[in-house]
Amino acid sequence: MSFVTKANIVVNALNKHDLQAKAGKSKVIVMPPIEELISDFNLDFHIKNGKMSEKDLAQFVEKYLFATTKLHHPSYLAHQVAPPHYAGSLGAMIDGFTNNAMAIYEMGPAAAAIEYFLINWFLEKVGWEPSPVTLEEEKEDARKGHNFGGGILTHGGSIANLTAMIAARNRVAPDAWDNGNPPDLALLAPSGCHYSIARAASIIGVGQKAIYHLQVDKNGAVIPDKLQIVYDQLKNDGKRPIALTANACSTAVGIYDPLDEIGDFCEENNIWFHVDGAHGASALLSQKYKYLLKGIEKADSLTWDAHKLMQVPTLCAALLFRDHNSIDTAFKQEASYLFHKKEQPGFDFIHRTIECTKAGLGLKLFMVLAALGEKGLSEYIEDRVELTLKAYEYIDNLPEFTCSVKPESNILCFRINGKDDLQIKIRDRLIAEGDFYLSTTSFNNVRYLRIVIMSPETTFDEIKKLIKSIKNIQSKLE
Ligand SMILES: Cc1ncc(COP(=O)(O)O)c(C=O)c1O
Repeated sequence: MSFVTKANIVVNALNKHDLQAKAGKSKVIVMPPIEELISDFNLDFHIKNGKMSEKDLAQFVEKYLFATTKLHHPSYLAHQVAPPHYAGSLGAMIDGFTNNAMAIYEMGPAAAAIEYFLINWFLEKVGWEPSPVTLEEEKEDARKGHNFGGGILTHGGSIANLTAMIAARNRVAPDAWDNGNPPDLALLAPSGCHYSIARAASIIGVGQKAIYHLQVDKNGAVIPDKLQIVYDQLKNDGKRPIALTANACSTAVGIYDPLDEIGDFCEENNIWFHVDGAHGASALLSQKYKYLLKGIEKADSLTWDAHKLMQVPTLCAALLFRDHNSIDTAFKQEASYLFHKKEQPGFDFIHRTIECTKAGLGLKLFMVLAALGEKGLSEYIEDRVELTLKAYEYIDNLPEFTCSVKPESNILCFRINGKDDLQIKIRDRLIAEGDFYLSTTSFNNVRYLRIVIMSPETTFDEIKKLIKSIKNIQSKLE
C-alpha cells in the first residue's frame, strides 16, 4: 500500500535524522541560499508532474531534512521552541491525517474530549476550578455556588494573548463588540512584555500608544510598590485599563514578575489581571519551581504554551480563565455555555476562539504526557533550569564575560567584553559555522548573546565548548 510504504520512507528518514542530530553529528543549523533550495528540491518539476515516486520521496525528504534546523541537537540553544518528543509528533500525524476540525463537537468528538480534559488539567495546575464534565457535576457546582474555569487550546501564545485582551476589553467595555471601542481604553504592562501584547493593543483598536508601562527593577521584574504611580497616571489621563499583563516569565531574560502582589493590586482596583506564562507557566508542573508563580490563582486569565517547555510540537497554547464566563462571552454578548442544555453529547469550542476551523491540538500534548508522565515532564523542566543555572555560575565567573541576570528559567543572557556589535558578529559567525545556534537580545539597552536550553541532549559540555568557540572567534575578530 502506497501510504504505508511512503510512511516507512519518511519515518526511517526521520529516525536517521533524529539520531544524528541528537548525537551532534550534523550541523545544528545550515542556511543554504533560498534559490539553491528551491532548485535542489525540484519543486517546479514535482508540482507540474505530481505522482512523486518512492525514490523521489526518499531523495526529497533527505534534502529537506538536511536544510532543517535541528532542534534536538545538543547545540540548539536559540529559541523557545520545543524539540518535540516523538510521541507528540505522532499525535500531530494522527491529527493531520484525520483532519478533524474539532471546534464543533460533531467534527471531532475524540479531539474535543481530549481538549476538554486537558483544559481542566491545566486549570487544576493553576489552582482554578475545572469545568464540569457531566450534568450531575454541573448541578453539584451550581448547588455549591461554585464558579468554574474554562479555556481553549489555540495556535500559539500570540493568539492566546490577543484573545485574552478581547475578553478583558469586553468586560470593561461591553458595548465595544457592537459599537467599537470607546476612546478611553488603555493597557498596563511592563516594557519587557512580549510584542504580541503590543500587537494585540493595535489589533483590538486600542493602539500601542495606550500601553502604560509598569516600572521594573534592574532585572526587568515589575515593582509592586510602583504600580499605583502608573495607574494614577493612566487615570489622570482619563483612561480605563482593559487589563494589566504580567510576565511569567519574560521573553528576553526569563524573569518572573511578582504575581502575588500584582494580583492583590488588581483585585483592590478591580483590574483584569492577565498573566503571560507562554514560556514560564510550565514551572507549575515542578514542585521545586512552582513558587515562581506564587499568586497565579489571582489572575483572571493565563497564557501557557505547551510547545515551549512541554516538548509538544508547534503549536499548542492553552488560554485559561478563572471564570469560564470570561471566555464564553468573549465572542458573543450572551453566555454560550450551554454544554448540557444542547441536544448533543459534547462541547463546541467554537464560541471560545478566533479560529473557525480548528485543529485538534490537544492530542499532541496528551501523547507527550502519556509518554513522559507529569513526573517526566517536571524532571525535564527542572533539569533544563538547573543546567541553565550551572551555565550562569560558570560564565559569570569568567573574567571576559558578564551575565545580565541570574536566571529563573532556562533562558540565559551573557556577553563577552566588547561592544554590542561584537556580540552580533560572534553570533553571526557561530551560525555560519553551524556548530552552535543561539540568539541575541537587547536588555536594558545592552546587547547580549542569549541561550535557551531546550534540548534534552544539551549538557554542560556544550556550554563549555560554546564559550571556547566564542573566545576563539573573538580573538580572530580582534
Ligand atoms: C512571554 C511570551 N509570550 C508570548 C509569546 C508568543 O508565543 P507564540 O510564539 O506561541 O505565539 C512568547 C514567545 O516567545 C513569549 O515568550
